[in-house]
Amino acid sequence: MKKIIIAENIVKSFRVGNEKHNVLDGVSVEINDGEFVSVMGPSGSGKSTLMFSMSGMDGIDDGMVSFDGRNLAELNEKELADIRRTKMGFVFQQPTLLKNLNILDNIILPSMRDNRKSAANITEKARALMKKVGIAELENRDITQVSGGQLQRAGICRALISNPKIIFGDEPTGALNSKSAQEIMDIIAEINKEGTAVILVTHDVKIAARTERIMFMRDGKIASEMQFEKFSGTDIDDRMKKVTEKMRDIGI
Ligand SMILES: Nc1ncnc2c1ncn2[C@@H]1O[C@H](COP(=O)(O)OP(=O)(O)OP(=O)(O)O)[C@@H](O)[C@H]1O
Ligand SMILES: [Mg+2]
Repeated sequence: MKKIIIAENIVKSFRVGNEKHNVLDGVSVEINDGEFVSVMGPSGSGKSTLMFSMSGMDGIDDGMVSFDGRNLAELNEKELADIRRTKMGFVFQQPTLLKNLNILDNIILPSMRDNRKSAANITEKARALMKKVGIAELENRDITQVSGGQLQRAGICRALISNPKIIFGDEPTGALNSKSAQEIMDIIAEINKEGTAVILVTHDVKIAARTERIMFMRDGKIASEMQFEKFSGTDIDDRMKKVTEKMRDIGI
C-alpha cells in the first residue's frame, strides 16, 4: 500500500522558562493513501502539534516526516507552501474564513493563485462542491450570515477545492451540535470514499468510531492504536463500545 505520510520518531519540544518539555516524544505514524484515521487523547497530549508537524506547518526537532515521497526537511518554505496549497486540505474547529468576502469567494480564494486553472473552472468546481455539501444557495452570503454548520461546510469546500490527497481535520466537528457533527462527518466520509485520505483529531467517540484506525495519544506518544473495517454505517454502537473500552483499558 502506498503511504501518503511517513513520520519517523518525531520529537518536538517547547521551552517554558528553562524547562524543556517534549510535546512529541518519539512519534512514528504512517498514513496510507486514501486511509481514514482519527487521533484521540487528552487535552495537551500533542494531537494538534502532531497534525502541524505532519503537514509541515511546524518544524520538528528530531525525526523525519515525508509527504508523498518527499522529505519535508529538504523543502524550502515556498515548496512547503505549494504542497500545502495543492496536496493538503485543512479543516479546523472554527473555519478561518475572511469576513469581507462572500462564501463563494472564500472557497475559491486558495486556488486563485494557481494560474494553471482558469477562474471559471475554479468557480464551477466550487459550485459543485457547495452543492454536494448542501450550501449551493448560500454563495453570496457573508460569512456572518450563515450557521456554524454551514460555515464548516464552506470550510470543507475550501479545503477540497485543490483536490488534495489528504484532509487534516483538527476537531472539525468540535464546535457543532451532535446532529450537525454527524452530517459533517457524513460529508467527510464521502470525501474519503472517493479516495482522499483523512486524518482527524476528535474528542468524540461517535466520530472516531466511524474511522478505520484510531491512534490514541498520551503525553506526546502514541499510547495505542485500534484498527477497524471500513465503516458500513450499521455497527456504530458496537464500534463505540469497543473504543470506549479501549480508552478505559489504556486509561485515557
Ligand atoms: N507554542 C507553544 N509553546 C509552548 N507550549 C506549547 C506550544 N504549543 C503547544 N504547547 C504545549 O504542547 C502540549 C500539546 O499541545 P497540543 O495543542 O498539541 O495538544 P492537543 O492534544 O491538541 O490538546 P487539545 O485537545 O486541548 O487541543 C500542551 O501541553 C501545550 O501546552
Ligand atoms: Mg488540539
